[in-house]
Amino acid sequence: MFDMFENYNQEDETSSVSLAVKPVIVVSVGGSVIAQDKLNATLMAKFANSINELRKEGFEFILVAGGGKIARDYIATAKTLGIQNNFVLDEIAITVTRLNALLLIQAFEDAYPDVLIDVKRIHGILESKKIPVFGGLIPGFTTDTVAASIAEYTGGIFINLSNQDGIYNVDPKYSKTAHLIPKMDHEKLMRVLAKKDSRNPGENMILDAFTCMILNRSKITTFVLNMEDLVNFENAVKGHEFKGTIVESISALETEI
Ligand code: UTP
Repeated sequence: MFDMFENYNQEDETSSVSLAVKPVIVVSVGGSVIAQDKLNATLMAKFANSINELRKEGFEFILVAGGGKIARDYIATAKTLGIQNNFVLDEIAITVTRLNALLLIQAFEDAYPDVLIDVKRIHGILESKKIPVFGGLIPGFTTDTVAASIAEYTGGIFINLSNQDGIYNVDPKYSKTAHLIPKMDHEKLMRVLAKKDSRNPGENMILDAFTCMILNRSKITTFVLNMEDLVNFENAVKGHEFKGTIVESISALETEI
């Protein structure tokens, strides 16, 4: 009789453990986190500190470094030198994102030491308690697309950290009446962002169309946050109140209502 209850308790424990497992968090670290006018070691170190604290609480991370202004400078210079081939311009920018990724790795004690190019290696690296770090992967993509694809592959959450507070109804760079949308579903994400993207090398959008499509097709929970406020980033990860945008599936939004 007691055996029966022991088994019951064991099963109960197992199910509560599996419920408590947190999804991996894939952070698209915008190029603007790594460099504004010049490379910003202070912000990278602060970001690493936040990630380290969150990892102590059991959150797991995968990082994808962006190219930002440095990549755009390289693209502009290559164009001045006569390069018109978008594939080649993208390849140049990808190399910059990988260099940024290698630099970002240096801010962490527990990052895997090489910039990754194979998504299938993620599980082994996470099992060894290291942080996988990527840059760009494929011409025509952005690093947001890389991060969204990795979130899709790992069943994770996607966080975009950039110099913008969240997703606005219209681009705040061009409209004074733009307002931040704190919460939306994936269909609205597609309506607000996906149509305005011509996917030119170095084009700068908060989330490009292909990224939105991946987030939408797999209904990936998405946060868009400003990298300046890392306490806000930590709050979002922990499920506390935060400033920014969350994109959730309609069923998740309905559950909250
Ligand atoms: P980013 O993803 O960094 O673009 O890639 P971004 O818009 O500058 O974003 P932030 O400012 O970092 O947040 C820079 C460029 O690198 C090429 C594209 O040309 C992209 O615009 N790239 C990047 C690729 O072609 N493939 C990739 O997988 C990643």
